[in-house]
Amino acid sequence: MFDRDSIKRFETLDTPFYYYDIQLLRKTLTQLKAAVDKYGYKVHYALKANANTRILKEISSFGFGADCVSGNEVTRALECGFPASKIVFAGVGKSDKEIETGIKNNIFCFNVESLQELEVINKIAGTEGKLANVALRLNPGIDAHTNKCINTGLADSKFGIDFNKLEETVTAAQKLNNIKLIGLHFHIGSQILDKEPYRLLCQRSNEMQDKLSLMGLDLPEINLGGGLGVNYDDPDSEPIPDFESLMDIIHANLHVREKQNVHFEFGRAIVAQCGTMVAKTLYIKPATQTNFAIVDAGFTDLIRPALYGARHKIENLSSHYAQHDKYDVVGPICESTDVFDTGITLPKTVRGDLIAFRTAGAYGEIMASRYNLRNLPSVYYSEN
Ligand code: LLP
Repeated sequence: MFDRDSIKRFETLDTPFYYYDIQLLRKTLTQLKAAVDKYGYKVHYALKANANTRILKEISSFGFGADCVSGNEVTRALECGFPASKIVFAGVGKSDKEIETGIKNNIFCFNVESLQELEVINKIAGTEGKLANVALRLNPGIDAHTNKCINTGLADSKFGIDFNKLEETVTAAQKLNNIKLIGLHFHIGSQILDKEPYRLLCQRSNEMQDKLSLMGLDLPEINLGGGLGVNYDDPDSEPIPDFESLMDIIHANLHVREKQNVHFEFGRAIVAQCGTMVAKTLYIKPATQTNFAIVDAGFTDLIRPALYGARHKIENLSSHYAQHDKYDVVGPICESTDVFDTGITLPKTVRGDLIAFRTAGAYGEIMASRYNLRNLPSVYYSEN
């Protein structure tokens, strides 16, 4: 996937680093825009996946909104060109200070996850003399068939309000003077590859809207969250996720009311494939079953394998050997979970070889830490 010139450039850079292919990001954004424009749907990019300012400016330049989960993300989104009128603020534990940030900046909507949170937003909006738009995040009780660490829509999840409590929550919300209920919000999980959960989500959303209609209420906004997955096994075969078929499925199954806006909050699907983490091989240590390839990146740079058992495609960018061997690719951190993958076949790898971890644009750089007092990874782009 990387041409000779890119690899030559990589050889001159300090490792480990993240490398972003800006052309691929633009192509992804162009396809996403075409897919949602077809039906007039709106997208709020989920900053939690990657809040790198260069990436954010690219995304905002396409006219998309932002989905934030902290006061700092709201501030970053505003700094990077997302208008307040397109910012939604989600999260199960918003602090008073963060709510204030949202209200003071007149963001489009708070996605609210409990009755108590509604009351707090109402109080803070009152103090500021404002009316805050809110959407209720309903837990739809749907299994997204994804990694259990990122499956959020099941009944016992900490997220959202039980969908069976819709009517009582709406009734309580209607009594609060400084909030305006404008919509419903759902999110069923992340890295969803199967389209069936989205069909079920549309059904649940339709049921919920029917209940609201019986209460004489038609809300102008429906937000179906994010979650569309990407191809980690073979990124080159699918550099851009199939936004179009998902939108077609939504269009075929969601009952959209007149003048209602449909929103999505994609993170991973937008940025995962444009990012690669590149590390250098420090040592090769033969073991009984395999060889350890010890690289200069660890879970402080890319935590997904250690935290979720996630697998990123690993490639040796330097090796000229025809011979292939088995490797456990591991990092330098003093923890036995600092392992990127085990028993993988790579061309014979030697000290100094550059190793690429593909599909690292989402939940990579942003989740880096300074554990062991390591430096944060550097960042480079395909163009300046
Ligand atoms: N909206 C809400 C309410 C969310 O909780 C999330 C992700 C998104 C949107 C964006 O989902 P996406 O389109 O990226 O799937 N760190 C994990 C993923 C955590 C996802 C958390 N919520 C990972 O590395 O796989």
